[in-house]
Amino acid sequence: MSSIKESFGSKFGIIAAAAGSAIGLGNIYRFPCEAGANGGGAFFIVYLTIVLLMGLPLMLSEFIIGRRSGKNPVGAFQALAPGSKGWGIIGYLGVIGSFLIMAFYCTVAGWTIDALGKSIINYYHGLDKNAILGDFNNLMNESWQPILSEGIFVFLTAFIIIKGVTKGIEKYSKILMPILLGILIILGIKSLTLEGASEGISFFLKPDFSKITGKVLISALGQAFFSLSLGMGCLITYGSYIAKNDNLTSTAFAVCISDTLIAVLAGIVIFPAAFSFGIRPEAGNELAFVTLPMLFDQMTGGYFFCLIFFLLLTIAALTSSISLMEVPVLFLTEQMHLSRKKATIYSAIGVFVLCVLSSESLHDGTPLKLFGLNIFSLLDTLTSKFLLTICGLTTVIFVGWKLKKEHFYDEYTNSGTVNMGLRKIIYFIIKFLAPVAITVILITQFIK
Ligand code: PHE
Repeated sequence: MSSIKESFGSKFGIIAAAAGSAIGLGNIYRFPCEAGANGGGAFFIVYLTIVLLMGLPLMLSEFIIGRRSGKNPVGAFQALAPGSKGWGIIGYLGVIGSFLIMAFYCTVAGWTIDALGKSIINYYHGLDKNAILGDFNNLMNESWQPILSEGIFVFLTAFIIIKGVTKGIEKYSKILMPILLGILIILGIKSLTLEGASEGISFFLKPDFSKITGKVLISALGQAFFSLSLGMGCLITYGSYIAKNDNLTSTAFAVCISDTLIAVLAGIVIFPAAFSFGIRPEAGNELAFVTLPMLFDQMTGGYFFCLIFFLLLTIAALTSSISLMEVPVLFLTEQMHLSRKKATIYSAIGVFVLCVLSSESLHDGTPLKLFGLNIFSLLDTLTSKFLLTICGLTTVIFVGWKLKKEHFYDEYTNSGTVNMGLRKIIYFIIKFLAPVAITVILITQFIK
């Protein structure tokens, strides 16, 4: 526990850690998948609105719960609502949610490590679309290769958590994430100059309001919470390490802006290139794992860019998975009194087993299915469309209706020293607007 705490000595340390948690595969892999499957521009505009009206207030709520209580998600709700057992359930759901997400996440991280390995040996050079696609499909059907790369990823995450070198990782990500941003900008410029790029850009950025359906709303909500690391206690955990004099609003703002910027850039890189290469926007996994290697191969210095890109993406995924795994680990240490080492080893073994099931469920004709979905998609749907949104909703309700108003103001304004002017409007958004909006979206998915 102290490992993360120590790293929060400076304001930038907190932003770097929270942004490190937020920026990851959710931005570069999952955001384009969701935008592509949900009408592009329509999704994009809904997504931005949700980040502002629901993501930001929820992030503030999580920080406030964490900092006020100084505890893990389960302990935090229990401490802030003593005697009422019910609220603690949100914390438990968060712990379960982060565990399940971790299994899905490690599967995709495994593909990223595989792509990194292939870029080191310049494997993609000269391959056409069908060859890269065939290779990706083979990977899905392989038994051992994905398990090996997932194993490496889970091991690295656990190693960093046990060794408590989070501090080092965050120090480097302050330098590395801006480099990732720089590469995305270069890639974006290249992508925009490809033949047929304009079609991709207008798909991604031009909203067709008639395409906004219940499915688009819930997908955008789930994606926003997933990408901002909300609704599973991650930022409650990080909030518990934030110093009393840090300005929560500016921290939350900085995290939301940087996370959204990376996601938007990923869209600007992927859609023009995908349209130019003849990859459908609904193609899902192919969007990142086939389009990007093809794009690199068309660039001067492509070998170098491809290598650095997948290396940075792996690091970005690691800074996210550390924050995910930290939730069950802190729960096991604080609530179950396990040592940090044991808590990490147990969590890692559990995650790895589930992750293997998830990736094996992607084989053609797999029997590993439930409710018509393979385990990989099931974990993704269950967490992003249900657990995150329900936990997010109950969290803002908790802060708006259960936590004392004075305690909210006290945390929000650092005892009356900052953000005095904004406090009423933010409180109104957390108490009324965000819960109503999230509820409406949750209900619309059931109305066809
Ligand atoms: N936000 C991370 C990403 O976009 C994933 C994540 C989700 C991390 C939830 C922590 C909690 O990659």
